[in-house]
Parts: sequence; C-alpha cells; structure tokens
Amino acid sequence: MSSSEIQTPEQFKWLPQPLLTWYSSVSRPLPWRLTKDPYKIWLSEIMLQQTRISAVMDYYARFTSALPDIPALAAVEEDALMKLWQGLGYYSRARNLQKAAKILVEQYNGRFPADFDIIRSLPGIGDYTAGAIASIAFRIPAPAVDGNVLRVLTRLSADSRDISREQTKAYFRSVISGIIPTDRPGEFNQALMELGELICLPNGAPLCDACPLQDHCKAHLSGNPENYPVKQAPKARRIERRTVWVILHNGAVALRKRPEKGLLAGLWELPNQLSSDAPEFSAWGFQPLQAPSVVAKGKHIFSHIEWHMEAFSFSTASDVLPASWVWATQSDLDRLYALPNAFQFALPFLNQALSENQLDT
Ligand code: ADE
Ligand code: SF4
Repeated sequence: MSSSEIQTPEQFKWLPQPLLTWYSSVSRPLPWRLTKDPYKIWLSEIMLQQTRISAVMDYYARFTSALPDIPALAAVEEDALMKLWQGLGYYSRARNLQKAAKILVEQYNGRFPADFDIIRSLPGIGDYTAGAIASIAFRIPAPAVDGNVLRVLTRLSADSRDISREQTKAYFRSVISGIIPTDRPGEFNQALMELGELICLPNGAPLCDACPLQDHCKAHLSGNPENYPVKQAPKARRIERRTVWVILHNGAVALRKRPEKGLLAGLWELPNQLSSDAPEFSAWGFQPLQAPSVVAKGKHIFSHIEWHMEAFSFSTASDVLPASWVWATQSDLDRLYALPNAFQFALPFLNQALSENQLDT
C-alpha cells in the first residue's frame, strides 16, 4: 500500500454520528459561526491559532468592523494593522494576513477561490487553517486537525504516537479524510474542536462523564485518559535579562521601531537593551535630568525566549531623538502605536507619568 492510500481504521467509522448529534445541541454561537464569509472565517482561524476564544472576541469585532473585507485588509497601513493586532501577540500572523490579502486582490479578484490547494498556498495558511477555511466556508471535505483534534483522536484510539511529529498529524488528517461527512464537513471539524475545548480538556482531567463518545473511547475505558496525547517536551527557553528605558519629555515617552525582521518585527517599543551591556542612553544622545531609577519589573514569555525586564525611568531636557524614534503622548499610545504586550508591565508607571505631566503643563 502506498502512503497516499492509507486506510481509515475501522475504529473511527462510528465517530461522525454521535459527534454531530452532540454538536447540534451544544455548539456555541461564536460570531464567526454566524457567517459564511470566508474572509471572516479565515481571520477567526488565524486569531484562534495562539489565542483563547474569550480573548479573541473583542479583537475579531474590532478588526472586522475596521477592515470589513479582503481589499480593506490589503490596503491598510502597517501601523494601523499592528494597532488592530496589539495584544494578540505573534504579530507575523497579522503580516501574513495582509500578504495573503494582497495576493487575493491581485490574483483572485479579492476573494478566496473555492480551491483547497490555492488556499493552502497562501502565506500563513498551513494544513490546519486551509482545512478549516475550505470545510467551513466552502463545504470542501478537508480535514482540519489542530491540537484539540489531535488530543481527542489520540485519546479515542489510545494512540501513543508523538503528536508533535508531522507524520502523526498527516496520519490523523488521512483518518479524518476517510470519515468526514461530505454534507457537513465544516460542522464535523468544528465539532471535534468544540469537544476538545469544552469536554476533552487539555490540562487536568477531561470531562468524560459528559462526553458523547465515552462508550467508544479507549483512553477513557483504560482509566487514564491523561496519558494521551504523547508529545515531545518543548525545548527549554533561553532567558534574557533586559533593561527597558522609559524616557520622558514634556508629557511624552520615547519610542523606537524594531527592525523589520525577527522578534516583534516592525513594532514600536520602549527602547531596551541587554542588562549585561553598559547603559546605552548616552550613546543615544540623552542627558538624564535625574539618575535613572527602577520603576517596574516584568517578565514576558515568547516561544523561544523569555525576557526578564527591569524598567528604569528618567526625564530629559532636550527633545532631540535618534533618527526614526518618536515622542508619544498618552493619546498617541492609545491611537497610533502598537506597544507589544512584553512592555505592558511598564504601563501603570508610564500612564501615571504621562498624565501627571499633562496636568502640570
Ligand atoms: N478553534 C479554532 N477554530 C475553531 C472553530 N471554528 N470552532 C471552535 N474552535 C475553534
Ligand atoms: Fe476525551 Fe474522555 Fe471523551 Fe475520551 S471519553 S474523548 S478522553 S472526554
């Protein structure tokens, strides 16, 4: 048998019926389920990739009202796009959204074609997201296997394959391809996700007593559902100590733009540096009016790195800035500049400092 003809194990043939029956009675009326607009389904899937549903709701509402369609997304200014994404993290998701929107405008009349392979070829769209868009928006019977679905499927079949391996994901995609109902592929995929989110929980014990699949579930019947899924431990993150400078002048704070490549690419930030290097503010041309003092401490976890930060603040007499830095007032921060979550730890101090200075002047 060649790998393109992997057989669907008999053990999953029973799955669609009880799963869809359960889903019909419990599915949440999430905003992106009340539309058939492929753009909005795409956007929701990208937002949901690294972010909880409850956190996505407000972002989704704001984003779709500011940018109601693909041409609007293709045309928006970078800073405005980043502002809409501010706080969601993994900003390359937003950049890829715009890249894909531009391709759709240039090559496909600003619309998604009903074609899995074309959808899959767009920036930021992998097997999971392509399957979700194709099945939910276009009723194409494509699998959409994310972490939730892998957890449910490995538990149902007590399968110990490592779910971090691409081979394992491909195997479960082929399993789903073999059983996905052709009349309701989007509902079937979302039902699996929903079960993983509401019942077959990731951390701690799953709610097997409430599960419509419990009579068939090998992990449940074994008594140890938490033995699945099996996955390789992630690599330890590197810890970096950084000094963050809150430089104030006349009710404004100095911001600089990060490089166009790498971590937090192209976003505005409080100037910062490795704590192990000598302070850089003199080299940047600032003359502090007071000795810089610690105003906040914070920690931020990225996928491969952790920043352990200390923020120091000082005021400066001159308004001269290095090239391409800006002075941002409170209202500039609110309206214009997307400050990544990594710097939120300094905001209580910063907001206080900016509002005090505004009252003074
Ligand atoms: N997680 C990601 N996409 C989802 C969807 N469409 N429904 C439920 N959970 C999801
Ligand atoms: Fe998950 Fe338990 Fe349902 Fe099995 S019975 S799918 S382990 S919730």
